[in-house]
Amino acid sequence: MEVFKAIRERKSVRSFDEKRDVPKEVVDKILEAACQAPTAGNIQPWRFWVIRNIQVKAGLATAAINQRFIAQAPIVIVVCSDLDISAEAYGERGRELYAIQDAACATENILLAAHSEGLGTCWVGAFYEEDVSRVLNLPSHVKPLAIVPVGYPSHPGTKPDRMPIKDVVEYVD
Ligand SMILES: Cc1cc2nc3c(=O)[nH]c(=O)nc-3n(C[C@H](O)[C@H](O)[C@H](O)COP(=O)(O)O)c2cc1C
Repeated sequence: MEVFKAIRERKSVRSFDEKRDVPKEVVDKILEAACQAPTAGNIQPWRFWVIRNIQVKAGLATAAINQRFIAQAPIVIVVCSDLDISAEAYGERGRELYAIQDAACATENILLAAHSEGLGTCWVGAFYEEDVSRVLNLPSHVKPLAIVPVGYPSHPGTKPDRMPIKDVVEYVD
């Protein structure tokens, strides 16, 4: 799919066809796209947890202030960053900023790649970090940054409008 088409069309999906699985090859393709994102100094501090386990998905939904649609998706990808890797390379700026930005870039690639494969996703950021870490048994230096349920949409849904470009851009000629 052409990149502008994918960017324009992608929208958050919060309702999934629970009976339709996502093949492993497609998940691998999405993860490959995630890992093509840029990272500061090409450090690649991102770590991905790919969850199919029903109990773990339910635990993540609970940790995400009970957003149950997370558990409905056949696959949930949790995008994390290893803060120590970023800090080792870039000190506090690495730990506090680059590690988060790097994971955000990967997350956007996941959303776009999934969309181009006909899948729906939603970037879920509202969650109790300690609860997600406990559910996934994450080491303390690995910070969960985004929960992304992935599945075939059960409803097309609508994309909310964006602000006009002129309201968000300052041109400096
Ligand atoms: C950092 C971040 C956190 C978000 N957290 C949630 C969330 O916890 N739950 C949810 O349903 N959507 C969440 N979203 C999705 C946004 O609500 C959605 O992207 C926005 O309303 C624009 O809609 P669209 O994705 O359909 O274009 C989040 C998006 C981002 C980028």
